[in-house]
Amino acid sequence: SIYLIGIVILAYLFGSIPTAVWLGQAFYGVDVREYGSGNAGATNTFRVLGKKAGSMVMFIDIFKGWTATNLPHLLDSSIVGTTDSTHFVNFQLALGVIAVLGHLFPVFAGFRGGKGVATLFGMVIAIHPLAALCCVTVFVVCLSISHYVSLSSISAGFTFPLSLAFIFKTTIPSLMLYAIAICVLILITHQKNIERLLKGKESKMYLFKKPTK
Ligand code: G3P
Repeated sequence: SIYLIGIVILAYLFGSIPTAVWLGQAFYGVDVREYGSGNAGATNTFRVLGKKAGSMVMFIDIFKGWTATNLPHLLDSSIVGTTDSTHFVNFQLALGVIAVLGHLFPVFAGFRGGKGVATLFGMVIAIHPLAALCCVTVFVVCLSISHYVSLSSISAGFTFPLSLAFIFKTTIPSLMLYAIAICVLILITHQKNIERLLKGKESKMYLFKKPTK
């Protein structure tokens, strides 16, 4: 129906909010896409503009994914037109992915956005909070050992389907399919990072202190 189309467009528009670009331009007069990795995401904002701006972008981008995924709950869950919880989750997953596509190709920033990790994380929080906890744990452990955000994002991405299958033993096939698709999406958006990782040229990120050489 017209409501369904409306909610899908809303999810895309939410995802499209180019937090990194707007925050950088508004408070620092800088388009973060011209510096660092050139990515319009929390990581590159952290890299280019520092901790405060980076964590703001991360928080808002996570919130975008969470909000888009929860749109049916926040608006009117009868819009989805099903009482079947599996179908409902499927619709939520679709909304989350649409928001991530908005983040990747934002209508408000010339369709040059980010890599979708924070937005995906918001979606995972909305769908399966305990799996989200597994993902963030793997992310933090990987980041504190390797200091590569991209590698940590990829590892966290793999943690989602793996934790669903082996820890939570999910019985929803579509959830598994989405989780695997999310992994593939993260691999696609991180192609350049993977190339740099393999060449040993990926930039490292130290959250608390720079190493003294
Ligand atoms: O969140 C994206 C992160 O995994 C990589 O970002 O800026 O290092 O390419 P960046």
